[in-house]
Formats: sequence, structure tokens, C-alpha cells
Amino acid sequence: MARKNGILSQINDTWLKGAPNQNKKDVGFILNRIKQNVEQRVAATLKFVLTPAIEVSSFLDITLPGIHRPLGAEHPIIKTMREVVNVFRALGYSVAEGPEIEPDYYNFEALNFPPNHPARDTQDTLFVSGQEKKQQRDRLLLRTHTSPVQVRAMLAQKPPIRVVAPGKVHRADTADATHSPIFHQVEGLAVDTNITFSDLKGTLDHAMKSLFGSAVKTRFYPSFFPFTEPSADVQITCFKCGGKGCRLCKNSGWIELLGCGMVDPNVFKFVESNGYDARKISGFAFGMGVERITMLKYGIDDIQLFYQGDVRFLEQFA
Ligand code: PHE
Repeated sequence: MARKNGILSQINDTWLKGAPNQNKKDVGFILNRIKQNVEQRVAATLKFVLTPAIEVSSFLDITLPGIHRPLGAEHPIIKTMREVVNVFRALGYSVAEGPEIEPDYYNFEALNFPPNHPARDTQDTLFVSGQEKKQQRDRLLLRTHTSPVQVRAMLAQKPPIRVVAPGKVHRADTADATHSPIFHQVEGLAVDTNITFSDLKGTLDHAMKSLFGSAVKTRFYPSFFPFTEPSADVQITCFKCGGKGCRLCKNSGWIELLGCGMVDPNVFKFVESNGYDARKISGFAFGMGVERITMLKYGIDDIQLFYQGDVRFLEQFA
């Protein structure tokens, strides 16, 4: 409405100037109506805004409840992921991430799964379609674990290295109470001179106590992964019954939590060019399922609850 640069004056100028002579009168008439209309509305709004609330209250019921906008909160999976990562950050680990779509090379080959080796069958892999023409190592897939970040981290940083990698992984599993085609893991890797299995045990024992309480004990059970040798599954004493045996631990007193092991020298061969010489260095790696840890921690019996977005479930973790 400003006299000089107001939109009304601009419209007035351009429309009136641009109109043919015989139409100037009609255009002027319409522009005048627009101007009056705007002025009336502005005046009414100003009056409303400037009227004290006590007078407004005759038509505005200020006792009506307002619109409740609950604060957002961290999703339980992200929360657990952050807790796990923080345990390792406190030990001096840095955080790395990798892509969720990987070439076969990073997900399998560089982790010592040779092409067509049966160990690949243990990971029900989702492949990107239409890549038959590519070499096997270049074919894209949805990463089945966060372990490819081990390889990427070692290519990006010379030893020594201490890194954790939280992230999303995919497997061709049918959804049920304990399976989901998308889930999350936190990977860990430590490489230096003279890293031994006792470093691995001490580190994970500390991590499990931080996450589940200082009373839990850990045990390392022989296992197999192509990229670690020796490999182990880590079990903790059941934090519910204290090891006596209950439903949660299926009466065994122990709960299996994660996979780990000493980095297989064959893996170092794939990153040798960046200073990883298996004769001079050694390391350990571990990987844990975030959903599983969260379910155990909070007594959740259905993994699907994490993905359904039901606020009644989620707000219990806020
Ligand atoms: N990547 C393995 C899995 O998803 C877990 C693992 C990580 C095992 C690192 C050993 C070392 O099952």
C-alpha cells in the first residue's frame, strides 16, 4: 500500500499505462475497486490485531485446549546405536560410515569370501538386477553386513586404526517376529602392532558391561567368519536371571550377542597397498545387531514394532 513502491501503485501504473485509450476508464474503475478491497481488509485485520484480548474473547474462546504438539524423540534403534558407538568413542575409536549399496568386491571378495564360495550362502543377499554383463566383483548388492566398512576404512586410513561403523544392512529374509529384511549393525575394527585376542576379549567384555550392567560376564564361543581367524560368538550371562536359566536365555543362562575375531591375514592382503602388512600388524573386528541388543535390553518380543511407527510403542523410549 506504500505510495511509491507499493504493489498497488505498481499495478496501477502498469495496468493503466498499458491499457488502450478506449479502455482506460474501465481499467481505472476496476483498479479502484481492488484498491478499496485491499484497504478494507487491511483495516479490518489491523483493528483485530490491535484490539485487546479481553474484547476479542467474546468470539475467541481462550479456554479451549490448544493444539498439542508432542516433542519428537530418538527412535529406540538410533538410541541404542548411539549408546554402542559412545562406548567405543570413549575408548578412542572414531566413527566411519559406508554405502548401503556395495559392489560384490567390498561385501564379499575383499572380506575373503572367494567367488562362488559356499560361505556366501550364509548371507541371503539381495542383488541389484540387470547386471549380468558386469564382472562378478563389480555387481551391486545391498550390503548384508557393515563389515565392508572395515575394508573401506583401511583403504582410507593407514594403520594404526580404531573405528566403529554403525549402519543399515539388508538380507533376503521374510519378516517375522525375529527377522527383518532391513536391520542395523555396529561394526568395530582395531588394527595396530601387537593386537592380541586378549585385547579383543577385554574390549568386548568392557563394552558388554557398559551396555548391560557391570554384573554381566562374557564368554567367547568358537565360530566361523571368512574374514576373521580365529572367530568367536560372544555370549553374556543372562541379565534377567543372572545365569540361572529362564525363558529369555532358553534355560541356558547365556545369551548370544555378536560375532567377532582376529582379522584374517587374507583380508590384510586386499589393503596391503595402504600399509597393512600382515607380518607386522594384527587386529580384531566385531559386529553386532542393533535390533537384537535393543530387544534384549528392553524386553521387546517382536522386531516389527521398530518399523511400524506406532507412537504408543515409540513414546515408551522418549
Ligand atoms: N559381519 C558379521 C555378520 O554380519 C559379524 C562379524 C563382524 C563377525 C566382524 C566378525 C567380525 O554376521
